[in-house]
Amino acid sequence: MLLIFIVFSLASQLSQAICECGYKTANGLLWTHTLNSDFTAPSMTNVTYSSFSSQWTISNWSNGNVAAGNRTVTIGRQFLPQNVYFQNKSLNLKVSAYTGRGKILCGEISTVRADILYGSFRSTFKVQPVSGACAGFFYYYVWINNNPELIGQNDTQEIDVEILTKDPTTRAVHYTQQPIVRGSQFTNVLPNPWTNFVRYRFDWLPKSSTFFADGQRERTIRVNTEHTPGTVKLNMWSNGNTLWSAGPPTQDAIMSVQNTCFFFNVSEDLKNLPTSEFNTACSAHRVPVCKVLD
Ligand SMILES: *[C@@H]1O[C@H](CO)[C@@H](O)[C@H](O)[C@H]1NC(C)=O
Ligand SMILES: *[C@@H]1O[C@H](CO)[C@@H](O)[C@H](O)[C@H]1NC(C)=O
Ligand SMILES: *[C@@H]1O[C@H](CO)[C@@H](O)[C@H](O)[C@H]1NC(C)=O
Ligand SMILES: *[C@@H]1O[C@H](CO)[C@@H](O)[C@H](O)[C@H]1NC(C)=O
Ligand SMILES: *[C@@H]1O[C@H](CO)[C@@H](O)[C@H](O)[C@H]1NC(C)=O
Ligand SMILES: *[C@@H]1O[C@H](CO)[C@@H](O)[C@H](O)[C@H]1NC(C)=O
Repeated sequence: MLLIFIVFSLASQLSQAICECGYKTANGLLWTHTLNSDFTAPSMTNVTYSSFSSQWTISNWSNGNVAAGNRTVTIGRQFLPQNVYFQNKSLNLKVSAYTGRGKILCGEISTVRADILYGSFRSTFKVQPVSGACAGFFYYYVWINNNPELIGQNDTQEIDVEILTKDPTTRAVHYTQQPIVRGSQFTNVLPNPWTNFVRYRFDWLPKSSTFFADGQRERTIRVNTEHTPGTVKLNMWSNGNTLWSAGPPTQDAIMSVQNTCFFFNVSEDLKNLPTSEFNTACSAHRVPVCKVLD
């Protein structure tokens, strides 16, 4: 089959109509699905707009403090819809300046679809150098058990790209396949500081995840490779844990996201059998596979 070349200019809208036979990334792998969000587009002014809310869920949940002995080791987090907003041609995720009491107010978005199973996930964002917050771009396992109504959460399966604003350098990035064991977590050096817009990418494959920054390959992790369908999320959070996020910050700490561009396969576990739909659509349209440039 002939390949056509589509340059995925992240600023341009992708036409879904012409790629029914999927997407081939530069490493030669074929993916059935894509999810592209350009948060710099003029239409991206209001998080309730359907082009946004059909693809992304804004988190609205909280948890409590965690104590060890007589000490509070983590402060409860509250993910607030108000901490997710468009401004300055970006989607901003905010940790609010902490007043010293109550939960720490954070911001998070998650893909609506929870059936993502392997893929190449790219996002361009910058992080303000306000110490005491963690900016995350990650895959997260959602327990479905063949029933989309029964969604639970499980911290053991997670692939993380994280920026810790407490780090002494604005070029440090942390890559993890959870849970943390020997060989599943690394700190790398970014080609450019995270205070600038950096294009992060992780390729989650059945036997490894490979992490990239601004087109440069940074790290491959083979330990704890995840194998369950889930969501991809972006968030800015703090829980006061001195060993990780540190903080909470006393000034607002903001992560500004310009875009996300994902190519992926989906699980067959859900009753709507999306891969079968893909096969049917591809046979019906008989279009070439779209080639994706890095
Ligand atoms: C994604 O799914 C398609 C259709 O089932 C399959 O042909 C392709 O090999 C899968 N890609 C990867 C990387 O597993
Ligand atoms: C955002 O869009 C919703 C739905 O169209 C509308 O009700 C709301 O007023 C808008 N908010 C702002 C700040 O424009
Ligand atoms: C967030 O949750 C609270 C309480 O659970 C609810 O009252 C509120 O309407 C929710 N906000 C949004 C934007 O969904
Ligand atoms: C907390 O517990 C430790 C021992 O576990 C004790 O030495 C310390 O005095 C306690 N601190 C307070 C404020 O109660
Ligand atoms: C947007 O730009 C203005 C003016 O430079 C600045 O004051 C504001 O903090 C920016 N907002 C975000 C979320 O970065
Ligand atoms: C989380 O997932 C792991 C791996 O599938 C499983 O062993 C563990 O029991 C799960 N924990 C919960 C609380 O569901």
